[in-house]
Amino acid sequence: MESKAILEVRDLEVYFPIKKGLLKKKVGEVKAVDGLSFTLKRGETLGLVGESGCGKTTTGKAIVKLIEATGGEIYYDGREILNMSPREFKAIRPKLQMIFQDPFSSLNPRMTVGDIIAEPIKFHRPQENIQELVEHYLELTGLKKEQLSRYPHEFSGGQRQRIGIARALALNPEVIIADEPVSALDVSIQAKIINLMKRLQEELGIAYLFIAHDLSIVKHISDYIAVMYLGNIVELSPAKELYQNPAHPYTKALISSIPIPDPRKKKDEIILKGEIPSPLDAPSGCKFATRCPYATTKCNNQRPKMEVISNNHQVACHHWKKINS
Ligand SMILES: Nc1ncnc2c1ncn2[C@@H]1O[C@H](COP(=O)(O)OP(=O)(O)O)[C@@H](O)[C@H]1O
Ligand SMILES: [Mg+2]
Repeated sequence: MESKAILEVRDLEVYFPIKKGLLKKKVGEVKAVDGLSFTLKRGETLGLVGESGCGKTTTGKAIVKLIEATGGEIYYDGREILNMSPREFKAIRPKLQMIFQDPFSSLNPRMTVGDIIAEPIKFHRPQENIQELVEHYLELTGLKKEQLSRYPHEFSGGQRQRIGIARALALNPEVIIADEPVSALDVSIQAKIINLMKRLQEELGIAYLFIAHDLSIVKHISDYIAVMYLGNIVELSPAKELYQNPAHPYTKALISSIPIPDPRKKKDEIILKGEIPSPLDAPSGCKFATRCPYATTKCNNQRPKMEVISNNHQVACHHWKKINS
């Protein structure tokens, strides 16, 4: 394990049982996360990208133990947390925070902003000067002191995300799992929130697992990017390398669907055929085979393993050499 890793996820599995009938007999399982591994270094950002339903939120929730993992290991600062007792994990939990796409649903509508930010401080750091800290986090996230006594519904979507971030920061986290934090916001506001998160990272050294459903949003904030498809990572690479030399056909398709601002630049868009299969009965070979323009019999029968193709760049595809030659 690398010394600088703050979070290491190994072969994480989250299978949801499907139960039917009066006796609630298990008739199958949804393999929402199906053997996921990655490392997040201290103070860095890993972008986790993939279409809706591929298991991103489930991954995030499993890391903070809002959902129970059915397999694998998760190390926070070198200590395995999945098998930790609830008492032991309680001390670590503040260090791992999660923020969501719609902070409104997680902000208590009957509490003022000041109380929302004060609550976690009172609980976890009661010995500290609460009012001072509340104002500190408010200022850090670009909100104003006058706004302390207002309620969540009085704020815009972007401001509410700032409140959500301030509340997470109040716990002094080392890792923030940001689950599509800007997907619901206008494009102009998206950039502001992303810049805020970058600045906070520089000042506070927080690591982000930044979840998004397309590659355009994570481009400027990520050090590394993991591309996810149906519960697996299919490509993992330093961010710049991924955009310059995508190796997996799915990554290529995602990149080719990013709009190019300059209309004179031409681009061959790769259109994926078909729909994403259900994680209930995912193909037994390569899960992407049903939509891949390069799929062969081998792909239908054999699941590809992650292969290192260059420094820190890995891909799970039987034909990456041929496709990229
Ligand atoms: N509690 C649950 N029970 C059964 N299936 C679930 C549950 N939560 C999520 N799923 C399924 O797991 C898959 C991954 O979901 P999710 O992690 O929300 O994807 P994403 O965040 O990438 O859109 C989806 O097929 C979803 O329907
Ligand atoms: Mg999600």
